[in-house]
Amino acid sequence: MAHRWKNTLKPSDVTDETLWLNRRHLLAGMAGAGLMGAAGLPQAAQAQGLAPNAWEDITSYNNFYEFGTGKDDPAKYARQMTISPWSIRIDGLVDKPGDYAIEDILARMQIEERIYRFRCVEAWSMVVPWNGFELADLLAMAGVQANARYVAFETYLNRDEMPGTRYPVLDWPYVEGLRLDEAMHPLTIMASGIYGRDIPAQNGAPLRLVVPWKYGFKSIKSVVRITLTDRQPPTSWNKANPREYGFYSNVNPQVDHPRWSQAQERRIGGGLFASRQPTLMMNGYADEVASLYQGMDLKAQF
Ligand code: MTE
Repeated sequence: MAHRWKNTLKPSDVTDETLWLNRRHLLAGMAGAGLMGAAGLPQAAQAQGLAPNAWEDITSYNNFYEFGTGKDDPAKYARQMTISPWSIRIDGLVDKPGDYAIEDILARMQIEERIYRFRCVEAWSMVVPWNGFELADLLAMAGVQANARYVAFETYLNRDEMPGTRYPVLDWPYVEGLRLDEAMHPLTIMASGIYGRDIPAQNGAPLRLVVPWKYGFKSIKSVVRITLTDRQPPTSWNKANPREYGFYSNVNPQVDHPRWSQAQERRIGGGLFASRQPTLMMNGYADEVASLYQGMDLKAQF
């Protein structure tokens, strides 16, 4: 990958980029998701709600606790992470287990732009123009076996490079998981870029999961291992505090976090006077994904 992890953008470039995307986002948002045309986001929601955040917002206000718990820690320290060479071990219930080099993965996948809302459990949100490919395509490459039910993910761990791992905030490495049908859903992507550039280290270089209808902590960064399994895998925040963080963690304005309301959210980059906006059911993607949870009690299985 040619691009280095240094932000070489000037403020004028950011503005140009934002304008460029504003012209394109209606098209890209719909074409990106394929299925999101008629049944997807209403045009009004796209036009009003999906102007992407500036590169500066997306790359300077981050959660990547391996580098510290401050929002600016990842931008300061994540560049220390060795992202080349990089390979991802795909194992468990697959036909072709192995260590797949990132270059080989990217060469075989169809990279497209997806402009998604991104909602953190902490009640802030952004709109991010990701570049990536459907996780389903990667899983198909490895050959999912019939008895697989879940997908487990693991983040890179190098304590010398990751100052935040000196503190037992979480049990390292960071791990996450999805049910297989969630993982196979066309909205679920592995992102390798933002704004057409390689994804910066602080956002989870070189490859991170993005599940737009779930709270941001499900979107695990800097993935080194993907395991197909028949058991629900452990997940970092659920292990740390099962009362506050469930396995599913679908964005839901009606299910409050025990310590704060989830009814509204604060859009990053909106400025000091930006009003809070209502949280959307499944982050605005309910038309596409609600059927995955039919018959489930979303309050009990949060
Ligand atoms: N992945 C790892 N490995 N470590 C983390 O601390 N934080 C999660 C998620 N993925 C996290 C992670 C949380 S809480 C959020 S909100 C998003 O990453 C933040 O992604 P962003 O910094 O690209 O906005």
